[in-house]
Amino acid sequence: MKRFLILSLIFVFALTAFYPVSNKDSFIENNLNIATQQLKYMVVEANKIPNHFPKTIDKSGKMIGFDLYDWTSGFFPGNLWMAAEYSKDKVLKENAIEWSTKLYPLQNFTEHHDLGFMTYCSLGNAYRITGNKMYRDILIQSAKSLSTRYNKTTKSIKSWNRFDSWNNNKSYNFPVIIDNLMNLELLFFASKETGDTSFKHIAVQHALTAMKYQIRPDYSSFHVVCYDTITGKVIARETAQGYSDNSTWARGQAWGIYGFTMAYRETKDIRFLKTAIGMADWFLNAKTLPADKIPFWDFNIGEAGYTPGPRSKTYMVTTKLRDASAAAITASALFELANYAGNKSANYKENAIAILHSLATDTYRSKLGENGNFLLKHSVGSIPHGAEIDAPLIYADYYFLEALIRYNKSLSK
Ligand code: GLY
Repeated sequence: MKRFLILSLIFVFALTAFYPVSNKDSFIENNLNIATQQLKYMVVEANKIPNHFPKTIDKSGKMIGFDLYDWTSGFFPGNLWMAAEYSKDKVLKENAIEWSTKLYPLQNFTEHHDLGFMTYCSLGNAYRITGNKMYRDILIQSAKSLSTRYNKTTKSIKSWNRFDSWNNNKSYNFPVIIDNLMNLELLFFASKETGDTSFKHIAVQHALTAMKYQIRPDYSSFHVVCYDTITGKVIARETAQGYSDNSTWARGQAWGIYGFTMAYRETKDIRFLKTAIGMADWFLNAKTLPADKIPFWDFNIGEAGYTPGPRSKTYMVTTKLRDASAAAITASALFELANYAGNKSANYKENAIAILHSLATDTYRSKLGENGNFLLKHSVGSIPHGAEIDAPLIYADYYFLEALIRYNKSLSK
């Protein structure tokens, strides 16, 4: 009896001592295994629409894919690469190669700014994992194509060829959206690979301009800033996907945290770190951030002083919806920011982990084989456009996966 008691005590002690570590590891492993399996299901469905890249589902749960020129085309191949690298699964790798190959024509695409998302999230992962120089060459040509959208007067890369305001019939021909910061990683990569500093110069100028005009003094953000190409001056600050022109769109804030963190990694310019920290603190301390840290799609929905433009479809959605994609992007960004933020680092990592744990609950993470085989539920594409409302989104899955991988890496440091 005494022996049994002693053995039981040793067992309980061992369990208590190792619980936090093994629990963390099994959380990551469990989620990455689910992601791998879910992606294997998705591959089967995606291969039925081979010229369309999975983006979301319709109301009946059917997969909706877009052609390679949509800004989201690189995320599915990127997900395949990340999951193949983790799982060593042959089918995922074969599909990662095949779906990446379909993106090659993008290297000469110049019609919008999203080439960084489209090629770096896909072929960037492909090159990192395989070392195949063909991917590198396509990425460099893509960086050249993206650079053609840079304007020396505005010191910015033009996002879209035209932006139609929600307020009136006005159109702007040099809009820059905060999301554009994410495309700079491709330019930093091309500079390092080729030694041609012009790519880096463009990236730094763009980030400095965004820092000056897109970020408010309290570190919240405007979505769209429109410039005059003759004078270089700002002529409008509006929103395309947020609640109102003066609100803070949740995914925009997330792109900013991620983008300035990445710009600091690539330049070590302390101004970018200060901006990333300011934006992260604003996000995490926002009074409208729910306790589970998954933001509503905009931080100012329905607040006094915030009015959607009359042409925006925002009025059609009366429930306050969350955006899991903004949470996933923020979690991934915070894991990286935690590497640079001194005495704030532990706090950022804790918040990143908390977000991941919320996303991994049944509320947000799909069961295997459900949700059109996407991983996360409850994202928002664009309420003002009436598109992808409370739906799964391929880029929410991408940043959830990336955040899990960053979390995993952080444990071995
Ligand atoms: N880049 C577009 C978006 O975040 O929806």
